[in-house]
Amino acid sequence: MRTKIAGIGHYVPDNVITNDYLAQYMDTSDEWIQERTGIKERRYATKHKESTTSMGAEAARIAMKNAGIKAEDIDFIIFATLSPDYYFPGCGVLLQRELGITSSEAGALDIRNQCSGFVYGLSVADQFIKTGMYKNILLVGAEMHSMGLDFSDEGRSVTVIFGDGAGAVVLQPTEKEDQGVLTTCLHSDGTHAEELAMINPGSHGGYHLGTEKYGYPDPDTPGGVFITQKMVDDNLLAPNMTGQLVFKTAVVKFPEVINEALQKTGLSKADIDIFVPHQANLRISQFVQRTLGLPDEKVVNNIQKYGNTTAASIPIALSEAWHDGRIKDGDLVCLAAFGSGFTWGSALIRW
Ligand code: COA
Repeated sequence: MRTKIAGIGHYVPDNVITNDYLAQYMDTSDEWIQERTGIKERRYATKHKESTTSMGAEAARIAMKNAGIKAEDIDFIIFATLSPDYYFPGCGVLLQRELGITSSEAGALDIRNQCSGFVYGLSVADQFIKTGMYKNILLVGAEMHSMGLDFSDEGRSVTVIFGDGAGAVVLQPTEKEDQGVLTTCLHSDGTHAEELAMINPGSHGGYHLGTEKYGYPDPDTPGGVFITQKMVDDNLLAPNMTGQLVFKTAVVKFPEVINEALQKTGLSKADIDIFVPHQANLRISQFVQRTLGLPDEKVVNNIQKYGNTTAASIPIALSEAWHDGRIKDGDLVCLAAFGSGFTWGSALIRW
């Protein structure tokens, strides 16, 4: 038994944010952003009206319709995001409520693997389906980055990259011999955990890197240090990224993990019909494309329109490519991701 993608959908908010718009708030330019990242614009969700969960629900409704199933048919939800509506509970149960899945027969799992979240979620779902435990798994990757970015000059190298959106798939068992998820490869290395991270608010209490740097001046204060005044005053509540380290590691790990998947399945680079990389940075994707020797028509890039939408980037790109007719039955689809953690992974799917 294998796992097939039975339905797919995506949602991006209407609100288009151009590079020139960002340049009104921080010292940046359209030229710099396009040259370094390939991004022309991204979407931001509407505050008060949309959230990570609501965008995930929009994508999920399309995926379920596409699969010909109803919300009550879903027996398991997997939700990948780094920008959840609440610190806890996770978006999985919020999505369940939003979709009106009232049956407690269904389970909901939240995945915290950032840019690799969708590939990790796919791998988890694949194991559940292969063991016969579930028949209709809804896997969602969604992000509302715009709520957590730093729009001052200090945050510019991170803020210009990220955008909001959601993608979803319905996963079902298939007994067709050459269809479905052929393999998934998952990896991580916590050595550089803080190099692409949002450290605060959190419960580390200064444990990893000292109390001063991360806003815990008085370790003896009982409780109440989840968010400190120092974090607010010193602008310590935004994501940080060591861009060059991320870039250099990503261009090694992407090809490595793709080759691993090809080796496991006895396939070759030439067998790949469509490559959908996590949309981290157009320069990273182009580098990986060159390494694999893939022609442009086999590679899906939409970061120019949406920026980096982290856990949502692969399902949005996959969904767009499928709805545009770029993916056909029988195609070998390769997914690969790298991001915060660091975590990385790949998947090969026979469509
Ligand atoms: N606009 C204008 N200038 C900017 C800027 C911005 N948005 N962000 C940074 N800069 C400046 C820096 O301050 C620095 O200025 P200085 O030379 O005066 O100190 C200069 O540009 C070069 O900074 P650097 O960080 O070395 O640039 P870079 O060429 O490495 O590009 C990234 C920065 C972030 C675009 C690049 O490192 C990158 O894409 N890394 C991977 C990021 C990624 O993919 N993240 C997602 C992973 S899932």
